[in-house]
Amino acid sequence: MKSISRRDAISGIAATSAGLALTLSSNDVSATLTQVSTARVFQGQHQPKALPFDAAKLKGLSEKLIRSHWENNYGGAVKALNAVEQRLAALLKESDLPPYMYGDLKREELVRTGSVVLHELYFGNLGGDPKPGGAALDAIKQWFGSYEQWEAEFKKTANALGGGSGWVIFAHNSHTGEFHNYWAWDHMHNIPMGRPLLVLDMYEHAYHIDYGAAAAKYVDAFLQNVNWQEVNRRTEELPKS
Ligand SMILES: [Fe+2]
Repeated sequence: MKSISRRDAISGIAATSAGLALTLSSNDVSATLTQVSTARVFQGQHQPKALPFDAAKLKGLSEKLIRSHWENNYGGAVKALNAVEQRLAALLKESDLPPYMYGDLKREELVRTGSVVLHELYFGNLGGDPKPGGAALDAIKQWFGSYEQWEAEFKKTANALGGGSGWVIFAHNSHTGEFHNYWAWDHMHNIPMGRPLLVLDMYEHAYHIDYGAAAAKYVDAFLQNVNWQEVNRRTEELPKS
């Protein structure tokens, strides 16, 4: 079995473990690079999840809006995430690539992952029984005093994002054990250790077709379409502390 130099090994293996590369033969390097291409993290095989409700039956949110949002924004994020993952594998093989250029794509991985996850949670908590109850309402009363007080703060937080972009995430903070309505500036900047229970998309694409710049009317319509059964399911799945 032919041995390779330390320099060859490092350049061939690029950003994989340098310590491992020092001991690899050329066959091993080739095999490892093949593994990079086929590793699950780089496969880019995410598939969009179907809407869990009839888009024509929401109250105050049109089918045109929901379908456009699902297909173009969520669907676009899924496609982009797949492309980013596959590109990461290709760039990992480029030994001369500066780390900061790899970092640009790692940032995109985080952006697209956040968008995919939050959109799936958003669509997942729409379209059901809008009457709050169960474990979620218990948590709301415990931490906000009443549903009305929780709703007032949720709306105020959402309206603060009107005309801009971001998310409102009613979440359980598994570090502090608290429940809060968290403000999120974008797909990446949100609460650490937060387990989302109810997610509201405040990007303009989520409401502009129906409401133009009237974001507050969209927030009201959203609250008329919350699937509280799903929010309860997420709440009941929280780890017991
Ligand atoms: Fe969106």
